[in-house]
This record gives sequence, C-alpha cells and structure tokens, in this order.
Amino acid sequence: MTHSFFNSLANRLLFQGYLSKKDGHEIKEASFHVRLLKKEDALKMFALSQKIYSSLKPEEKTFIHKHEDISYYKNITDDRSMAYMGVFHKGTLIGMSYIKICADLQTFSNEIPNQTSQAFDDNSFVATFGGDCVLPAYRGNKLNQIMVRIRKELAQKIGCQEAYAIIDRNNINNLTPYFANHFSLISSGIDPTDNGPIYTMQIGLKRSNTGRIRTPSQFAFASVKDKERIDNLLAQNFQGVRYDTLYQIMEFIRKPTLIYTQKRVLVTHPQQRKDLQYV
Ligand SMILES: CC(C)(COP(=O)(O)OP(=O)(O)OC[C@H]1O[C@@H](n2cnc3c(N)ncnc32)[C@H](O)[C@@H]1OP(=O)(O)O)[C@@H](O)C(=O)NCCC(=O)NCCS
Repeated sequence: MTHSFFNSLANRLLFQGYLSKKDGHEIKEASFHVRLLKKEDALKMFALSQKIYSSLKPEEKTFIHKHEDISYYKNITDDRSMAYMGVFHKGTLIGMSYIKICADLQTFSNEIPNQTSQAFDDNSFVATFGGDCVLPAYRGNKLNQIMVRIRKELAQKIGCQEAYAIIDRNNINNLTPYFANHFSLISSGIDPTDNGPIYTMQIGLKRSNTGRIRTPSQFAFASVKDKERIDNLLAQNFQGVRYDTLYQIMEFIRKPTLIYTQKRVLVTHPQQRKDLQYV
C-alpha cells in the first residue's frame, strides 16, 4: 500500500510556490517546487546533506546524522516504507525531509524514543517525519512548514492515525513549522541514540480529530526558552501549542485580558472541562 502510494507520486509535482527571500534579502520571481526524490537524485541529496552538515549550529546537532557515503541516499530510496521529498529552485535541491510509515511499535520506537501509540493496537499506521533541512540561504521562506504540511497530507491519505517528529530542544527554528501545522508538543526527553535533548511533536490525523480546537480547561504560558517551566507543565499533562492558537481560543472564550504576553508557546491542558483556571 505504502509502496504503491509513494510510487504513484513519483513524478508528480507536490507543491509549487515562490521564494520571498534569499540570504535575508527580498527576491522576486524565484519559483520553487516540491516533489518526491528518487534514486537518480542521490548525488544531489548527498551534496545537500554535506552542505547542511558543514553549516550546522550547535543547537541543530541532534538528529541530523551525518552520512559519509552517497550509498546511504542510493539505498534509502529503496526503503519502501519511507519517502524523501525535495524542494528545488532552478534545478538545485535546496531542502529535503522524509516521511516514514511505521506499521509496528519496533519501527516506530527506532524513530521516536520513549513513546507508544494506540494505532498499532488498531492495526493502523503512524507516520514519522525527519531529516528536515533547508540550505541556510533559503531559510525562513516557510519551506519546512510546507514540507511538514505535505507530509501531513500524505500521511492522512495513507490512513495514518497519527504523525510524530522529534526536534532538538534547542532548535527553536524547527518548532515553528510543526506548531504552524497544528502539531502539539507532548513530551521532552533524551534521545538514547545520541543523548540529545528532544521534544516530541504529535498530531492526530483521524478525520474526526482534525480541524477542531478544544477549549482547554487550564492555560499556562511559557516561553520556548523557558525549558524548566515547559518540563514542569508537561509533567502536569499540559501540551504545547503555538501561540497563534491562543487568539482563536481567546476569541472563543472572550477573555482578551490574557493576551498580554509576547511569549511564543501557549501550553494547554488536553482535557476538556468547563471551569477555567489560569496557571
Ligand atoms: C530547521 C530548518 C529545517 C527550518 O527550515 P525553514 O525552511 O527555514 O523553516 P520555516 O521557514 O518553515 O521556519 C523557520 C523558522 O525559523 C525562523 N528563523 C530563525 N532564524 C532564521 C534564519 N536565519 N533564517 C531563516 N529563518 C529563520 C523563521 O522566521 C521561522 O519562524 P517563524 O515562522 O516563526 O517566522 C532549517 O533551519 C535547517 O535546515 N536547519 C539545519 C538542520 C536542522 O536543524 N534540522 C532539524 C533537526 S530537528
């Protein structure tokens, strides 16, 4: 199923758009497109990964594993449970990422540590996203936000119940693309493969779950920089959502006085209750 689905998309254009900036300067008429990557792209993938690796900041070190050999990219496109997608500008690969379809807990645990999913009890699938990267000159064009969106749509079409990603806790720039696509921050921990500090991002993809904003019973605000507070709130079963969501919730419950903070993460309680408490 997964294989034939990804195969059917092999030469399809998944997205087309315009870049707004390069190296921080405005650019015009610069189009980009997104498509799945294939074996013939291995050299481009290798070259991109080398460039990304050589410009990594300390906060980006986790999960971008260095692949010294081009054969990794040649072989990875043979893995039928996953697909890499690439962003192209004038024939150059400027960004890429993968989606993996996990059909069992073991495969899922290798991707997302310390987590389980109800989906496997229901004989369903879970999608995991990874390998997110964009060349430094093209960052901030929401290219990863678009790649997350496309992967989410593919996962939904395949029938995955949920999608997950892990993000380096220090890598604030990769939180936005996930929050913007309505993922929630559900836990923090350590990746046992490299001892890197991680956040786990999750979204439910069952049709009945999507597009619905639950009114949380409790609100708390936390800056993405305030990791201790976030940990504390996560331990109390709060979930992190993007600050923008706050405005929609405020609209709903009409408590505009709460919009006083400049902080970026709103942490909400997943449980629905009528009484509202502010933490
Ligand atoms: C993480 C990464 C994939 C994001 O790609 P991207 O296409 O720039 O992502 P988006 O544009 O969708 O979102 C990036 C966010 O970082 C912000 N940003 C911060 N510094 C930036 C910079 N120097 N250039 C561009 N954007 C920057 C953007 O404004 C945006 O936040 P906003 O939507 O709140 O404005 C990219 O930075 C990257 O390749 N990093 C190195 C590899 C890596 O760390 N991968 C993730 C491992 S968890």
